[in-house]
Amino acid sequence: MSERTRLTTVETVHEDRSWLFTFEDEYGEEDEAILVPCDDGVEAWINRCTHEAQRFDTGRGAAMRDGQIICPKHGSMFDTCSGYCDNGEAADTTLPAVDVAVTDGVVYLTDDDATFLHEGGTDEGDDDDGPTSTSHIGF
Ligand code: FES
Repeated sequence: MSERTRLTTVETVHEDRSWLFTFEDEYGEEDEAILVPCDDGVEAWINRCTHEAQRFDTGRGAAMRDGQIICPKHGSMFDTCSGYCDNGEAADTTLPAVDVAVTDGVVYLTDDDATFLHEGGTDEGDDDDGPTSTSHIGF
């Protein structure tokens, strides 16, 4: 049960400020998470506000300020290290965490309930699998 998947590097997360990926949860459903900088390391949180089903990172990076993730809908801010929110509509809630580990600057997904699918959001997965995808059909 200690399988781990390489995601990206700590350096990349710190440069880009958030790194979006899609995984399959324990029920076989696709979900999204974001890696965000926390001090010198990174943390991973579900890419969805606790107030309403609003994504933080919609594919262009999450809004961040002073070590906090800003919800684009009503502006609640979540601490990147603890996932906790003490303000606005989402006050007194904590984001669900996804387990990751860092070894030699490389970030690995270590969550037993999450299987890595691909970088980016759920809608970007259609590019590589999905028989319904038409995005690569040329004329
Ligand atoms: S949806 Fe995030 S604060 Fe309301």
